[in-house]
Amino acid sequence: MLLVPSGLPALRRSALSRALSGISSPAAFRSTSRSRTLPLLAAQLLTLLLALCLTLPLAAQAGHGGEAARKDGILLVAFGTTVEEARPALDNIERLVRATHPGAEIRWAWSARKARASLIKEGKPAASPQQALADMAEEGFTHVAVQSFHTITGEEFHGLLATAHAMEGLPKGLTRITVGLPLLASTDDAESLAVALKSLLPKERKPGDAVIFMGHGNPHHPAALSYPAMQYYLTKADPLFFISVVEGSPSFDDVTATLTARKVRTAWLVPLMAVAGDHAHNDMAGDEPDSLASQLRERGITPRPVLRGTASSDAIVSIWLRHLDVALKQLDQ
Ligand code: CO
Repeated sequence: MLLVPSGLPALRRSALSRALSGISSPAAFRSTSRSRTLPLLAAQLLTLLLALCLTLPLAAQAGHGGEAARKDGILLVAFGTTVEEARPALDNIERLVRATHPGAEIRWAWSARKARASLIKEGKPAASPQQALADMAEEGFTHVAVQSFHTITGEEFHGLLATAHAMEGLPKGLTRITVGLPLLASTDDAESLAVALKSLLPKERKPGDAVIFMGHGNPHHPAALSYPAMQYYLTKADPLFFISVVEGSPSFDDVTATLTARKVRTAWLVPLMAVAGDHAHNDMAGDEPDSLASQLRERGITPRPVLRGTASSDAIVSIWLRHLDVALKQLDQ
């Protein structure tokens, strides 16, 4: 039973066919024209009028030029942030998209309701992906490449895919919507990212200092496997690179235990998130006893937080931009 998501489409279909048979049944038409009380000429006139009524809307539609002229656009979608000083990282994304696609029509959307609410409170525009796509259709766009600035192919990305799928091909809406993959969507991405992450490290990092990249994590999503998979490429790039996540695995406990076993004295903490927002300030660098920084201190390891999101690094953004190029090419397929 659960395999049938809803009975509504079937209900709508049968209601529609009932309505259609009521309107244009040939039998109903014949009985009118054969009516004895109606003179033949009048019946013919009525038929002509009816035919005109039916064809006029079609003629009017043809007068509007049929298919709308193609208009391409790019929609950038990030989780967003409630932390104002984290936003320049997102401006960096737009700067790089404009540099690589001069003249492109670019719009933004935020997939986190909290992030939208905080922007709206400041009187700034803040559309959801659904709202942004609807607005673009109203603006006359026909083809939109949506680029996800999420990190893994997780819940946020799948939500975006579902939205794009639902919004494609609606009457008077967008003809074609493609979606670019998030940052970490293949082993090639993981290999590139492990090297590109070095661009976030300050020069003060000394040999023997570990670096922990802190991701968001999601204990319930299959794509959360991306985090332990990423550890393989991090180790390849630098034997003292580690990964840990706020929710799920590898946990803060896992990584602090590994660092203790490796006799590490100092660990640089870097968010593996587009922006250094609430999670970076609190779960990573905060003073609460359960933050990553506090748990390291408890084990005698000095934490050195770096409050920079991955979107602030041009080298990392270029991985997302490779995915945008694919999405743009797919608009023609
Ligand atoms: Co969160």
